[in-house]
This record gives sequence, C-alpha cells and structure tokens, in this order.
Amino acid sequence: MQIHPCFTRWLLAASLAVSVAAFKVTAADSPREHLSLDANWKFHLGDDWPNALRLDKAGASGGPAAEKFNDNAWRSLDLPHDWAIELPFDANADGSHGFKPVGPGFPKNSTGWYRRTFDLPAADARKRLWLTFDGVFRDATVWVNGWLVTRHEGGYYPFREDITDVAHVGGRNVVTVKVDASKFEGWFYEGAGIYRHVWLDKTAPLAIAPDGIFVRSEFKHNLPAGKAEIEVEMRLLNSLTNQAEATVNCEIISPDGKSVAKFKESEAVKGAALKTVNLESKVASPVFWSPESPKLYKLITTVAVAGKVVDQKETAFGIRTFAFDATNGFLLNGRHYELYGTCNHQDMAGVGAALPDALQYFRIAKLKEFGCNAYRTSHNPPTPELLDACDHLGMIVMDESRLLGSDKENMQKWEDQIRRDRNHASVGIWSVANEEFSVQATPQGGNVARTMQTFVKSLDPTRPTTYAAPQGDTFDGINGVIEVRGWNYHISSELDSYHAKHPSQPNVGTEQGSTVSTRGIYTNDKVRGYVSAYDVNFPSWATTAERWWSCFGDRPWLSGGFVWTGFDYRGEPTPYSWPCINSHFGILDMCGFPKDNFYYYQSWWTTNTVLHLLPHWNWAGQEGQQIRVDALSNCEEVELFLNGQSLGKQAMKRNSKLSWQVKYAPGTLSAKGFTGGQVVAEAKVETTGDATAIQLAADRSALNADGEDVSALTVSATDAQGRVVPVAGNKINFAIEGAGKILGVGNGDPSSHEPDTFVAQPPVKTIPVNHWRWQLATVPGKGRLAPEYANEFDDSAWNTIKPKTDGDTGDMVLNEGQSGIFRAHVSLTEADLANPGVQIRFGGIDDHGWIFVNHQRVGESRDWSAQPEFDIKNALHAGDNVIAVGVNNEAGTGGLNPDVNVEIVGKPAASAWSRSLFNGLAQVLVQATKDAGEIKLTASADGLQPATITLTSQAGPARPSVP
Ligand code: GAL
Repeated sequence: MQIHPCFTRWLLAASLAVSVAAFKVTAADSPREHLSLDANWKFHLGDDWPNALRLDKAGASGGPAAEKFNDNAWRSLDLPHDWAIELPFDANADGSHGFKPVGPGFPKNSTGWYRRTFDLPAADARKRLWLTFDGVFRDATVWVNGWLVTRHEGGYYPFREDITDVAHVGGRNVVTVKVDASKFEGWFYEGAGIYRHVWLDKTAPLAIAPDGIFVRSEFKHNLPAGKAEIEVEMRLLNSLTNQAEATVNCEIISPDGKSVAKFKESEAVKGAALKTVNLESKVASPVFWSPESPKLYKLITTVAVAGKVVDQKETAFGIRTFAFDATNGFLLNGRHYELYGTCNHQDMAGVGAALPDALQYFRIAKLKEFGCNAYRTSHNPPTPELLDACDHLGMIVMDESRLLGSDKENMQKWEDQIRRDRNHASVGIWSVANEEFSVQATPQGGNVARTMQTFVKSLDPTRPTTYAAPQGDTFDGINGVIEVRGWNYHISSELDSYHAKHPSQPNVGTEQGSTVSTRGIYTNDKVRGYVSAYDVNFPSWATTAERWWSCFGDRPWLSGGFVWTGFDYRGEPTPYSWPCINSHFGILDMCGFPKDNFYYYQSWWTTNTVLHLLPHWNWAGQEGQQIRVDALSNCEEVELFLNGQSLGKQAMKRNSKLSWQVKYAPGTLSAKGFTGGQVVAEAKVETTGDATAIQLAADRSALNADGEDVSALTVSATDAQGRVVPVAGNKINFAIEGAGKILGVGNGDPSSHEPDTFVAQPPVKTIPVNHWRWQLATVPGKGRLAPEYANEFDDSAWNTIKPKTDGDTGDMVLNEGQSGIFRAHVSLTEADLANPGVQIRFGGIDDHGWIFVNHQRVGESRDWSAQPEFDIKNALHAGDNVIAVGVNNEAGTGGLNPDVNVEIVGKPAASAWSRSLFNGLAQVLVQATKDAGEIKLTASADGLQPATITLTSQAGPARPSVP
C-alpha cells in the first residue's frame, strides 16, 4: 500500500482547510470511518473498450472510465466476486487452473469492468479519503471520477490510494476498475475479478497512517514469565502544512474486557510528514494466546491534537511467544508444540476465490476438527479476514509471499504484506517464497532471500522467516541463509544428514504429503478421474499421510509440518487431466466434507478417541470378494466384526493404521477400539437400502441479516431407515424463499462439470437498426443539437449506406478530417418498452461521435475501436424512433459502422439451482440478505421425498458500509 510520497497536493488541501485544532470531536465520534464498499457494483465482462485508458492527458480516459458513462445495462452484483467460477468448463483451457476459459488463449473472458457510484456528504470536506482493495485478480486499473488513480499489477497484494484530491465531496462519485486476468500468476486456480473486499476509509488530515500501528509483546529470553512488555509503534500522517502537537493515548483491554494498561506519548508532527511514535507499557499476569485458547487483547489508540480527538483505532493482538529451535522444534509459549499444519489455496466450492468472511471461519473450523493447528497461505499473501479467523479460532499461520525478489516492486509488496499482517496473533512465521527451482541453489537466490529476510527484521523483529525448499541435503543458495530450513517433500535419510551437518538451524516441514484421494471412492478410475481414498496414491515427489507423518512425528526437531493440502482446490488435477477439474490432495474435499485421511490425522493430531472404518459397505454384486477394510484409530487395539463375527483384533502402532481383508457380505461391519484392555470406542458401517428421502442440515441455522453472512448446508440422501446412502448420486433441485439467496453449490466431485453458480441472465431481444442514410455535414461541437438530428428532418435525398453483412463492416464513408451525420429509424412496441432496459450498441464510431435518439442526446463515443453501448430507454417511445449520430473523423477513413442494434433487456428469470449428490453428499451455500426473517430452502429430486429447512436471519451488527 503506497502512502503517497508527494506531499504537494496536501499543501494545497491544507491551504483550504482549517487547522487540525479546529476539529471538535470526542473519542466516541473520532472522524475515522472504515466503510465497506462491497455492495452495489455494476459489472461487464469483456474488453469492449480496449483503448479506454488514455495516458496523454489527465481525466481523458474514455468508455467506462469516463465519469458520465452509462452503466445501467450492466449486471448488478456485490463483492467479493469471481467471474471465472461462472464460466463453463472447457477442455481446451488450462488444466492446472481448473479448465476455466480465462487467461492466456481466452481474451474474450479475461477482462472485466466494474463500476461503483456513491455519494460523499459535504461533511467529508477536509477529511482524507482512502480507497483500499484487499486483492484483485489480476492487474487493476482504477479511475475515480475519470481520474486515473492507480495501476496495480498482481493478483494477491492489497493496494490503497488516497483519493481525496479527486473526490466530489458533497456530490456523486464513481470508481471504475478494469481487471485484466489475461496472465496467470500461479499454477493453480486463481479466479478473476475483485475477489476480496474494497474499503473506503475517511480520516482527519492528521491521523494514524494506513497500517500505521504495530503492537507486540515481549518477554525476557522469549520465555513467557512475569510481565509482558508491550511495545507500540505508531505512524502518524499529517497532511496539513502546519506542525501539530499530537498526543497518542493507548489503552489495553484484556480478553475478559478489563482495562489493564493505559499509557501515552506526545510528539510534534511536522506538516506534510509521517512521524513514528514509540510507546511502551507492561501487562501483568498476561493471558496467553494459543490455538487451544485463542484469547485476544485489544489495543485502543486515540490521537488527540490540542485536546480534541482526531483519530481512534482498535487493534486486536495476542500475547504469546513463538520460537523455532534447532533441537526442540517449534516452541509455543516456551514449550515444544508440534505444528499440525496444512497448506491451502484460497478457493472453495460454490464461490471460487471470492469467499465471504463467514466461509473463512467455516474453513478454519473444519481444519481444526482433525487437529490442524497451523495454516500455510500457499503461495500468496492471504486475505486479512482469513487471518482474523485464525486469530479468533486459533491457528498458527505461515504467511507466504507470492514471489522471491528483492527488486523495488517486490520489496514494496513484501513491506505491504508485513505491515498489514504483523499485528495478527496467529501469524507465526514469514515465508519468503515457495519452490523457486531456477534460482534456489544459486548465490543470487541466497542474496535475494537474505535481503527479504533482513528486511523482515526491520519491520517485525518478532518472527523468523523460512523458505519452502523442494530440496534434500542442500545448503547452497537459499537454505544456507534462511533462518528456518523449510522441507518440501524429500522424506529420506537426507533429513537426518542435513540436520547433522547444520545442527544450529531450525527446521520445519513446509510442504508434505501430497497424497491423492477422492471422497468415497475405493478404486482408481482413470476414465472418470477418481483416486481411491485408501492412503496409497501419491505423485512421484510425494508420499502417503502415514509415511510422512510417521517420519515427522518421530523427529520433534522438525517442528511438525504442513500437509499439501487441507482442502481440495480447483486446478492441479494430479494424477489425471480432463475430465478432472480439481485437485485430489485435500484431507477435505472442495466443500469441506472429510475424506478418510481426515480420521488418520484426527487420530494422531488430537486427543479425541477416534475409530473410523473404511470403505462404505454398499458393494452389491461383489458378494464373496475380498475387500480391504482399514481402521483409522488411536486406540491401542482394534477388533473388527462382520455381521457380529470377529475378524480378529490387531494392535495399533503409533502414527499408523490397521488393515484387514474381508470377504464381502452385506450387513454391518463394525469395530471396537480398546485402550488399557477396555472398550473405549465403537464404529460401524452398514449396507444401506436405496435412497428414499433427502436430508438437509445447516452448519449454522441463525444468520446475521447483514447481506454477507453464510450458512453451509449439507444435502444427503437417506434410505428408508434414515441412513445416509454413501453411493447416492441423485440430482437435487433447490428453491429458496425469504430473507436469503443461494450463493453457490458444490459436491466435492473432482470431475463434475455442473455449474457452481447459476447467474440469472436477462433475456435479450436484438433489433437491428438498418437503412442508414448519411450526408457530409458540420457536426456541432460538444454534442450540441443540429437541425439534422430532428425527427421531422427530411433525409430522403441523403446517401444510403450498405448494411453490414457478415464479413463486411459496411462502408466507411468519411475521409480524414470529414464530418457527417447518420440517421436511421427503429420501430418499437409498448411491450418492448415495458422491459427493464433498452440499449443501443454500435459496431464502431470512428473517431468521435455524439448519439441522439428522438432529438435527445444519449451519449458520446471517443474511441474508434470500441463497440459502445448506451442506455436509451428514457428517450424512446412506442412507434417510430429516429437515431441520429454526428461523427467527426479525425484520422484515416472513418464514419459509422452500420452494425447497430437495439437490445431489449428483459427481467432475469429466477435461477433454477441444482446439484447432483456425489457419493451421497452435496453442499448449498445460503447467504442472508439485509432483511431479517426466515429463509426456507427446499431440496427436491425425482423419486425422493423432498426436504425443507428453515434458517433464521436476525438483525445484528452490520459492517459499516458506503450506501
Ligand atoms: C508442490 C507445489 C504445490 C503443488 C504441489 C502438488 O511442489 O509447491 O504448489 O503444486 O507440489 O503436489
């Protein structure tokens, strides 16, 4: 996030502004507002204005970048939004990105335009206004009120701009964002669009700088004893010309809501300057944060000038110590603590990369169910709300950069990431990069990693850095300089030989496992793209869950590790390709439904008593055949039974699992788990009958009526005895009523080509506008009226123009420097005009055109290469209408491309949502609207008894937002 280096515009603003001392506010009404700008955007897919960006003059950009552009006909939507998820699957698209036709080779689907209009009250005069994007995939060009305000390359980093100078305070404003997803950054599904939040922040002219607070706790020797030393570093930004004496008051609130420390500092802050203020305090008998007890403190920082509060901010933080030790591995609050981690990408079923916050919490909670206590944000900085979920639910984070690089741009991004994320209690270690094959073993690779690592120390002396190295016993390059040696794969004797050679370097398993499995599948099926869920399949560089964890679990010095991956993600369909569209690496599938390995990890990563049997027991037609049965358990012994007959008791080795070969007979497969000779757990799987009914279960049945909250509902099919049928594949239809909408659907099937979203498309009727007549004429400047535009004007003596036929764009009739007027008629009915939208779309106007309908000006086009469209509904009437276009041709031949159409845009029909069950399960994501009330979801399918579930959505705290 760039704090604008140029202070000159502040000087100008200051000359118009009263001094800070004139602010009359109290702590309760600090001028700071942090407002969501997620709702009510307009969206258009397609690069229809390739030359909109103009670099010759300020404010000269055209098309949607222009303030007056009419976006009425665009689709309305709320952020976060990922348009890639809405596209159909395409066998010709990139498999590692999930076979979605976006990116290289698909220019038509790779540019999206967004516009958002909002009012700023006159009371915002003298405030600083900041626009922040948490993440856009990918390159973004942003205009505010026609001004180009930023161009940001990259899909994962936040960016922020001070838009004070170009805002219309007391008036209407428009933000336009062109998103260019035509290049990939990763080798996995990346989405497309404004897929994270957008914010508008308003502050006083002297205020806490963006990401300007760093609060940390320290203990002597990093051992959590006695009082916690609290250090606060705060950056104040004074955008006025005059120096001001600022007082910073800090208060710390304990996890149980008590004020435990108050401290303050006063500093003179020069005009047009940034000033760092350092403060210190202590917290006696601190409460420690941990994944098991994620208790958070709150720092309230209040800035006052001349006795008046000018800013106030709350920052959540945790008191805890983290350390990586070469002999004892990871230490949390001074004690060895095994990192039970997973690596994850950011997408999910139903929503792609655009996750509402509720789903971040849903996903972190799912990971915790099998004992996961650590999360690697592979291979990019996360959205801040993921870190909030980790802070609040308890998860230690490895926070990874997108790319290795010590160039200016990469270092700026690295700085932005660290400044933004360093207050989070959950963040435990920074990762400079992942698997930089070409450079990792070179001296230059080492230099760059060292520069990134050293820079971390200047911004965050509390956490170490690592690098996810796909190497064995190699010390050259990055491994030789990095504080914590990261291990991607390479489970072999090299682990021990490396440790013996470098006994003072701590280690961590940055990426392990990569075991592939499909939920509910027990034989590999290359044709359908499924891999069996026994822990047996893995690509050449990888291994089983049991093998890697047995190795790491026995070596505490390794600090534990991170499995590739917690959840399946789109793309990387290893070991297959089409028709497979998502990965098989997850312990959980795309929806968060557990695969069998979930219970392996739960056995060895939690203290719960676990006993799980696989596979399911519906093998009609395989009677008498041998079937492998596994017990995943942490009991000392497990005895297996088929229809009550014991098949033997086996002793469980630590970090292992048990197997039997069982002759299939339908009925009940059951097991007893023994510890200390006592039965401590029982499990069974039964042969079910055919599916007869649908069941719906909500992850949360009470939602916040804030337009954002989401419940994840599990859909299953049950037999006559109410047992879930593990092989059911019925297609389920969904209908929703009341205060909610369906956001997305999924089922975890890695080869399903069913849509995740059903975007309601409005019906469009196209009426060609033909029989154009034209004549050379003077076109009045600035779009003023000409007599030739009038309806009654007699153009019968004018030239005619050849209509556009396929492959022929019609005549370009104007020579360089000529101007002409073009006229045509279109006849519309009352019924046409009763539709929500009527627009006119031009094949091209070369170079500068003014468009009139029934003698009313409806638009202007300045880009010869664009296919501009204009909303003309209000200028039309039933019967004959006259379209007139005045064109100035500035260069080459030009004129009007006669491919002109009127489009009647109807009301989108309510979408009919559906999804098939995959091995018995599907998921529906239901999002609350802003209205409190009941939400009724009904699921129905041919031949099954339908189910209805009612959720309640209650008025609660809504996120402050721009109306
Ligand atoms: C790793 C890589 C991951 C993923 C994984 C699949 O080498 O870091 O991004 O591709 O392989 O096994």
